[in-house]
Amino acid sequence: MKIAIVYSSKTGNTEELVHLIQELFNRKKVVVKLFRIEQFPINDLSNYEAIVIGTYTWGNGNIPHEMMGIFRAFKTEDVKNIVTAVVGTGDSGYLNFCGAVDEFKTMLYYHTHLAVTLKIEVSPQKKDLSRCIRFVEIVLEKVLLYRSDLKIKSKK
Ligand SMILES: Cc1cc2nc3c(=O)[nH]c(=O)nc-3n(C[C@H](O)[C@H](O)[C@H](O)COP(=O)(O)O)c2cc1C
Repeated sequence: MKIAIVYSSKTGNTEELVHLIQELFNRKKVVVKLFRIEQFPINDLSNYEAIVIGTYTWGNGNIPHEMMGIFRAFKTEDVKNIVTAVVGTGDSGYLNFCGAVDEFKTMLYYHTHLAVTLKIEVSPQKKDLSRCIRFVEIVLEKVLLYRSDLKIKSKK
């Protein structure tokens, strides 16, 4: 499986979360590549079967500035065959909790095969582990389902 996690993190919470998600994929014997947004070659988007976006929320429920390039790329490139998922950290003290996750969710639902989204309060705690495990399972299930769907279509 070719899966990448592409993330941004200012103070380290989202970074901690995506490292946990990567570890949970590894426990399922699936190797995923982890990229800070600045290191991800955007032209490579369509080379992945699945992409997990990791984002914090800034301003008033906004997507961080540095994530806007990949956001636009999903909107404009041919990415309809990619399974996607979004994880994010935020602070429920703000009016628009994890607003960046919602923004990505709406756009990716329209342009890709969105599998699942997950919002975490500030940084991952023990109580969040089962939701993170389920998140990873749903991504893997969706990739396998979509693969078999493609096979059936190509036989027709
Ligand atoms: C100026 C500022 C604005 C923020 N706005 C929001 C917001 O609108 N919604 C939200 O859920 N969290 C908001 N946050 C909280 C951050 O998203 C949260 O602390 C997050 O975990 C930071 O992730 P990071 O450590 O990966 O950078 C804001 C934080 C700051 C400092």
